[in-house]
Amino acid sequence: MKKGKKLYEGKAKIIYATQDKDLVIQYFKDDATAFNNQKKTTIEGKGVLNNRISEHILSNLSQIGIKNHLVKRLNMREQIIKLVEIIPIEFIVRNVATGSLTKRLGIEDGTVLKEPLIEYCFKDDKLGDPLVAEEHIYVFEWANKKEIEKIKKMILRINDFMIGMFRGIGIKLIDFKLEFGRLKTNGKNEIILADEISPDTCRLWDSLTEKKLDKDRFRKDLGDLIPAYTEVARRLGILHEQSNVSVVNVTKLSSVKKKTK
Ligand code: TMP
Repeated sequence: MKKGKKLYEGKAKIIYATQDKDLVIQYFKDDATAFNNQKKTTIEGKGVLNNRISEHILSNLSQIGIKNHLVKRLNMREQIIKLVEIIPIEFIVRNVATGSLTKRLGIEDGTVLKEPLIEYCFKDDKLGDPLVAEEHIYVFEWANKKEIEKIKKMILRINDFMIGMFRGIGIKLIDFKLEFGRLKTNGKNEIILADEISPDTCRLWDSLTEKKLDKDRFRKDLGDLIPAYTEVARRLGILHEQSNVSVVNVTKLSSVKKKTK
């Protein structure tokens, strides 16, 4: 698949055109940002791990009938995905209260919620992705009621599946963020899951020690992000390498190769 021109660059990913108008390439960068870009750095190897972890989760979701944009992983940093029209909402799913929810409502950190809580944020970096009500989505026509009902059903199935998948490897799924898009097929719009699911977009705590295995390591300066993401990949059975060193080495090798070309 030939990589065409850059169509879009986000904080952690780049989208490139391909010769097929319905498909694009999603490239995972090593850039890490938090608090709407106020804090940023580059963490070597993060993109490689997120590419692999997201591929694993989205393929598993396909197998239980959750349609999504992933076609296939191309290499260490890239995957081919279906081009969709992204719905401008970040769907936040929470099982345990932490992060912005605790700050906003004064709920004690770690409170287990009696049912999954879905929150909606309007995707707009300039506004800092503000929390909105479901009614805003309809009034401003970001999506219609039928689409949101379908998305909510998909979210609950995704959450159930992911809670179980992570529980099986000793990890608690605290919360996560999802994005959905419209795929045009035969003139009709179909809602499918898009973007990525990775430790950048989930909160994952070790079941026994509650050690944070996600981007909170960067957000809260807890250190050692790559070993934590590698641990998630290893427990998911994706990485068979002995340690995190191998991921970083592969990244280094590929950049050395590029430079010598
Ligand atoms: P929050 O507690 O900061 O609102 O985050 C809730 C979840 O959503 C957490 O798993 C991190 C994820 N998230 C993103 O993936 N992207 C974002 O821009 C934000 C704010 C949160």
